[in-house]
Amino acid sequence: MSQFISNRYEDTVEYGKSIGLSLTGGEMIILSGQLGSGKTVLAKGIADSLGIDEVVTSPSFSIMNLYNGRLELCHFDFYRIEDRAEMEDLLEDFLYRNGYVCVVEWGDPIMDILESFLHIQIDIDEEARVITEERRNNGGRVDKERGGAV
Ligand SMILES: Nc1ncnc2c1ncn2[C@@H]1O[C@H](COP(=O)(O)OP(=O)(O)OP(=O)(O)O)[C@@H](O)[C@H]1O
Ligand SMILES: [Mg+2]
Repeated sequence: MSQFISNRYEDTVEYGKSIGLSLTGGEMIILSGQLGSGKTVLAKGIADSLGIDEVVTSPSFSIMNLYNGRLELCHFDFYRIEDRAEMEDLLEDFLYRNGYVCVVEWGDPIMDILESFLHIQIDIDEEARVITEERRNNGGRVDKERGGAV
């Protein structure tokens, strides 16, 4: 587990970029934190280091935005999805798929059914954001083979 203090928007973008640089495809990233904490800002940084030129916007209405870069970026927002089964259905074609990275906002309900993922929690502390990163492995029932080989 590691922690980082972001004092401004640009710090969170940079943090996202550093995450993006380490990605090779097949990863699942859950972004947690309250409304306006900076999840989409962090996703912008990830997209940037995947070589995505398109402007990354919040997928709150579209549920998922797909971007093509060095890897495919599937950016989900499950804020309006109530049911865990529906989240699983939405993820099915993309989760742990070769060449694809899933970044999910408001995906906490599915954390305990995922096999492995990077969990990034953003907490607001006055003006700053405290970003906590943890690699998690549950040995959950959604295994890596489901969406294709890693
Ligand atoms: N250190 C910081 N890092 C990121 N964003 C910051 C920071 N300080 C202030 N902000 C502001 O906080 C807001 C974060 O918005 P963002 O859309 O990324 O939140 P979110 O967590 O995705 O919210 P939602 O749950 O509604 O999708 C932006 O308006 C941004 O300018
Ligand atoms: Mg958002």
